Amino acid sequence: MLAPMSRLVWVTGASSGIGAAVAAAYADTGATVLASARRDAPLRALAAAHPSVVPLPLDVTDQAAVDVAVADVLKRYGGVDVLVLNAGLGQRAKAVYTDLAVDRQLMEVNYFAPVAMTKKLLPSMLARGRGHVVVVSSVVGKFGSPGRTAYSASKHALHGFYDGLRAEVYPDGLRVTLVCPGYVRTEFSLTALHGDGSAHGVMDPGQEKGLAPEEVAQAILRGVREERNEVLVGGVELAAVHAKRFVPGLFERLLRGRGT
Ligand SMILES: NC(=O)c1ccc[n+]([C@@H]2O[C@H](COP(=O)([O-])OP(=O)(O)OC[C@H]3O[C@@H](n4cnc5c(N)ncnc54)[C@H](OP(=O)(O)O)[C@@H]3O)[C@@H](O)[C@H]2O)c1
Repeated sequence: MLAPMSRLVWVTGASSGIGAAVAAAYADTGATVLASARRDAPLRALAAAHPSVVPLPLDVTDQAAVDVAVADVLKRYGGVDVLVLNAGLGQRAKAVYTDLAVDRQLMEVNYFAPVAMTKKLLPSMLARGRGHVVVVSSVVGKFGSPGRTAYSASKHALHGFYDGLRAEVYPDGLRVTLVCPGYVRTEFSLTALHGDGSAHGVMDPGQEKGLAPEEVAQAILRGVREERNEVLVGGVELAAVHAKRFVPGLFERLLRGRGT
């Protein structure tokens, strides 16, 4: 078990919401936290409030920039102890109104970006015989949600990849945790994409009434400490995950015709 002071944590999507809260929570444990996102100002504000946070601006879909960032991090710190792949993008449109380009964009941000970062860091984790990869999925990574087809698909894809990876790397000492939040009170619905690629720009009631990101961050830290395979965190909407599993026919009927 590593002493908390020696830990290096890298959080993507750390400029707001869950990622910012996770970065702050890890900084409070004494860890050095690399905080990545595209917007520089919120990362600098986070670092001003938490001296062990190091801003590392990065567009996770820019493969060349990710390659450079990973090489720099490995050279400077030797390795990453906890990698929190949290950057994400939502959707607010039925499939019939969603351009294929938007489906592809959601897959790039929500699926290919975390997979690419994982693949870049995996050899160093395997060489050190340690490392914990945390991936922020969603409850809709567990069931297909109307009005969120591309988003649900991108999150389902994460489960296929990371469940398989967990089994592959377990004997090498690496751990993989998938986090499935329900509604969380963040900017997420503001940046979610309409079918034409424009931003939704509205705080939806689900997000507004959701859990505080700090509460989700604590659940994530606990899940890492306990080496959990999966962390489900949210309110009553978590019942949907169990309904899909145990009463799938009824659940299917309840979803019919929904979606914006
Ligand atoms: N809020 C919810 O109800 C909810 C529910 C389930 C799951 N989730 C998941 O939780 C995660 C975090 O979302 P959130 O709720 O905290 O929303 P948020 O406040 O909108 O945070 C999203 C983060 O992702 C970053 N990001 C987006 N595209 C990026 C890119 N190309 N490169 C780097 N960073 C990028 C954003 O930073 P920049 O814009 O500065 O790049 C921001 O820091 C997402 O994966 C989301 O799917 C959220």
